[in-house]
Amino acid sequence: MDKKILTVYKSVTGFTREYAEMIAREVGSALMDIKEANAKNMSGFDVIVFGGRMHAGRVDGLKRAKELYGQSGSSQLIVFATGATPNEARDIVEEMWRNNLTPKELSHIPHFYLQSGLRYEKMPLADRFMMKVFCAMMKRKKDKTEYESQCERVIGSSCDISSREYILPLLACLKD
Ligand SMILES: Cc1cc2nc3c(=O)[nH]c(=O)nc-3n(C[C@H](O)[C@H](O)[C@H](O)COP(=O)(O)O)c2cc1C
Repeated sequence: MDKKILTVYKSVTGFTREYAEMIAREVGSALMDIKEANAKNMSGFDVIVFGGRMHAGRVDGLKRAKELYGQSGSSQLIVFATGATPNEARDIVEEMWRNNLTPKELSHIPHFYLQSGLRYEKMPLADRFMMKVFCAMMKRKKDKTEYESQCERVIGSSCDISSREYILPLLACLKD
């Protein structure tokens, strides 16, 4: 690939890092944890790919990634988000993007959702507590939709629904 690509990620339990590593390997891009990123070491790339986890409806690290991208001089930003929401829940995923990108960004920034899972054993205490509250709310909710009942069944324990195949649309976009 002629383009110089940098893949930057923010990950807590490892799913986003693993997807970022897969993408970097596939396209031969540089790879960087956002903790190490700054305007200087992010400059000189044609494309910046940023990946962050979904966290209570927000893409974690996206604001910082957009700032760094703005300072980097790169000409294209591509964003991916990982989450426990299954890929099939298209309405939820689309709403999530509408809440994280402006209408202009939605049309200019290619964005991809990659289902991942939950890793309770690697979650910080505050996240485990948030999940506990969310699980209790789900349990109490009356008239649950089929999706909400399914959600209630799976969110209480660790699960891995990630797969390499989900990065294919993003790879196609990069190779375009
Ligand atoms: C407190 C908390 C909130 C979360 N909120 C969402 C969410 O809004 N939507 C979603 O699909 N997944 C959500 N998740 C699941 C994470 O996005 C998922 O586990 C992600 O892949 C973690 O990425 P990481 O392993 O790179 O840290 C949440 C997880 C935690 C712990």
